[in-house]
Amino acid sequence: MKERIQALAKKKNAIILAHNYQPAEIQEVADLCGDSLEMSIKAAATKADIIICCGVHFMAETAAILSPEKTVLLPNPDAGCPMAEMVTPEALVARKKELGNIPVITYVNSSAAVKAVSDICCTSANVIKVVNAMDADEVLMTPDKNLAKYAAANTTKKVHLWEGYCPFHNNLTVQEVMAAKSAHPKALFVAHPECPPQILELADSIQSTSGMIRFAGESSGDQFILGTEIGLLHPISKAHPQKQFYPASEKMMCKDMKKISLENILESLTTLSGEVRVPEEIRIKALGSVQKMIDLK
Ligand code: 13P
Ligand code: SF4
Repeated sequence: MKERIQALAKKKNAIILAHNYQPAEIQEVADLCGDSLEMSIKAAATKADIIICCGVHFMAETAAILSPEKTVLLPNPDAGCPMAEMVTPEALVARKKELGNIPVITYVNSSAAVKAVSDICCTSANVIKVVNAMDADEVLMTPDKNLAKYAAANTTKKVHLWEGYCPFHNNLTVQEVMAAKSAHPKALFVAHPECPPQILELADSIQSTSGMIRFAGESSGDQFILGTEIGLLHPISKAHPQKQFYPASEKMMCKDMKKISLENILESLTTLSGEVRVPEEIRIKALGSVQKMIDLK
């Protein structure tokens, strides 16, 4: 199956991008695996005619926003992100007005329509840089309240929250982390900034998914507890086979991130099904927000 997919992708000049949370067999067939920022940058730079986006809907939309001339395929159209659905463009515009039109920073885990009414995007890898780059003393961050609280703790600006969250990161408890720490007393605890503040307080390092892979390589430690979705165990163990990785909680499993199968990819590549398009008037406005983020580097 892997060889068939890769041969067909080559024939059709398609590139396969996979998020770090995708199932192992999907990551193994992909040309590039990465965090949301790396996926955006790769989608913007590729010369391929077709982008197969193995992740969730907002990731395929981001690729379509950046590459209107390319065909962007999401092999399973049901793969969405519950957090992205916690904000609508109408509600965001109303809140921005209430706050006196302060700049809106929107996490990439959001729809194209929400990005279109935002001033700039951010990812977990660049959120602090983006907040500090804003030419205003107050900002509104959406949709992730935990990412916003993390940013607020690392800036002098006032950060207004939106009440959204990732159900899997938000549900991680202090008890679960303490139990993992006592089971693995020598391990460092690395947490994703989508986790709540009481979890981040327990962390030795706070990182995006690819940031965790880099941190594990640079650290002198050889055991790590990961406060993130369990799909990361595959690429991090592959990158550092001599080190040990443990999930902070086995419950951190995002069903949407597991919806794409090798069969879906082959079908999508063969029939060009699952195309994700963004209406041009929304795309142009959303591109402004995404491009501003990418240009900050
Ligand atoms: P990153 O890989 O950008 O850290 O994203 C985490 C996430 O929840 C993506 O859905
Ligand atoms: Fe959305 Fe959380 Fe799943 Fe990422 S892990 S796609 S933020 S629900």
